[in-house]
Amino acid sequence: MGSFATTGINQVSVHPRSVEWEVRDAISAILEIALKPVGFRRQLQEILDVLVSISWLRAANKGAIFVTNGQRELVMVAQHELSAPLLDKCAKVPFGCCLCGRAAESKRVLFRNCVDHDHDIRFDGMEDHGHYNLPLTDPNGDVIGVVVLYLEHGHTPHSQELQFMEMLGHALSNVILSRDLKLKAEVNAIRLQQAQMDMLHKLVAASEFRDNETGAHIKRMTQYALCIGRRVGLGQEDLKLLELAAPMHDIGKVGIPDEILLKPGKLTAEEWAIMQRHAEIGANILSGTHELLRASRDIAWCHHEKWDGSGYPRGLKGEEIPLFARICALADVFDALTSERPYKSAWPVEDAIAFIQENSGSHFDPALVEAFTGGLREMLEIRLIYNDHDPEPTARKVVLREALPREGVVSWRASMSVGVDFIDKQHQYLIDLINRIHEGIEQGDTVAIVQALLDMKTYTEVHFTDEEDLMRRNGYPDLERHMALHQGFIEKTESFLVDFERYPLAIGSEFFHYLVNWLVHHIQKVDAEYGRYLAGKGDAVR
Ligand code: C2E
Ligand code: SIN
Ligand code: SIN
Ligand code: FE
Ligand code: FE
Repeated sequence: MGSFATTGINQVSVHPRSVEWEVRDAISAILEIALKPVGFRRQLQEILDVLVSISWLRAANKGAIFVTNGQRELVMVAQHELSAPLLDKCAKVPFGCCLCGRAAESKRVLFRNCVDHDHDIRFDGMEDHGHYNLPLTDPNGDVIGVVVLYLEHGHTPHSQELQFMEMLGHALSNVILSRDLKLKAEVNAIRLQQAQMDMLHKLVAASEFRDNETGAHIKRMTQYALCIGRRVGLGQEDLKLLELAAPMHDIGKVGIPDEILLKPGKLTAEEWAIMQRHAEIGANILSGTHELLRASRDIAWCHHEKWDGSGYPRGLKGEEIPLFARICALADVFDALTSERPYKSAWPVEDAIAFIQENSGSHFDPALVEAFTGGLREMLEIRLIYNDHDPEPTARKVVLREALPREGVVSWRASMSVGVDFIDKQHQYLIDLINRIHEGIEQGDTVAIVQALLDMKTYTEVHFTDEEDLMRRNGYPDLERHMALHQGFIEKTESFLVDFERYPLAIGSEFFHYLVNWLVHHIQKVDAEYGRYLAGKGDAVR
């Protein structure tokens, strides 16, 4: 490194205020950056850029910021001008290793004016240099990260320098802690929301299975509703909401006794009055301000209202009835008519269609009847796919949303096809999820990453079940091994989520690389094997 400058920090006596001014400027710049609404990594990067340019430090204009993960390792999250070998060797440094790891372990500021024997990480051609290693700690004294600043070889600290370093350590600790808390809160909120959804779904299942053994009614009715919704021009967001809320339309049936709900014949006037209460019971169960709860509540409360005002429980009329409820009313009746119930046998589908059309404007919203009629072909397909007597496992019928075409790091190629259409569709969806995660990492959008990771977990569970069913039905000899691979992946995804919850700042791209490698390898190698097996088996069930 260059010779000692003559205008370095030892010259402070000539410009007595310059050090303090620079300290002040640096701290206020850091505070300003801390308040900017930018991604965490970008924020640390900007802070580091300020630090390495402090002139009196005679910094070598190099540095790095690390945060700790759950394995007592430091993960590099920002760096300035580090040489390529270091980027690789120091991407992750265990506590106790090299100077930064020693600072983390001892929780003390380490200063060196040269590369001494504590500097474990070396490489050919490394230049001699000094270091500051500042441990960053939380209020419990646990190390949350380390800042490394490179100094010119032989650097002599100024008298206030150590003090400045300590101040800096506190300021940076606070920046990191507040980001960490905020992220944890966000991750927790998403997880909580997911848990609530799971609970609601279980509640739906519990209510549904009482008078409908396969649960197929809910699936059909939801698909009918979505089909109508798409035809009347609902946007993606609304369709998603409708998809989640429609299954809860009859949740109030949990409050109806078996003697009534399962009665094989016609209800007495008294029983009918009790039965009708399921709409209000549902509305009460679904009280709350969450968007999903509000949509579900609308549907549960109003799905037996009629367009002409003759429905129950409130006798609402026309557009007083929320749109989602009007859609669900039609979907619900079409399915109830064409299904067997404890009190009635199934109607021929033509009769059900005629009933819906005859009751346009009296029971049903005419615009929706029109959409229903226009979408009849799709309705009939749904009815075939989700039928009650199908011996095939229902998991196979989970319709994954179509993958959006997205520029991404991985894209679907024809060579990835295993020759089974619904599996290929699911694989495409998973690739789309990977790209969403990648996008989240690129943009430092932790919320997007967690959301995608949760989706990933759900969809892999669905997909793996489907795939394993397919293999089982075809007597695939390698099923056990394949199942073990799937299980491993699910556990890994779960462990990423746990890490995310506890150390959201330290999540790097390594987990992303794991996902990409695993999935691409799995689809192209492991799944291709059973693709070939199926192709060679003349009578394969698909
Ligand atoms: P569900 O069986 O799922 O029927 C939903 C809706 O489909 C009914 O709402 C009704 O609008 C329509 N629907 C079903 N079957 C028929 C039918 O044979 N003819 C006509 N015209 N419409 C039909 P609704 O009437 O408000 O009934 C709500 C729920 O009350 C029904 O859900 C069912 O669980 C129960 N329920 C209704 N009537 C009887 C009955 O006579 N006996 C028993 N055990 N339960 C009944
Ligand atoms: C560098 O060359 O980037 C700095 C050297 C080091 O810390 O090992
Ligand atoms: C259903 O079983 O979903 C329809 C019955 C009702 O809405 O009350
Ligand atoms: Fe109902
Ligand atoms: Fe697989």
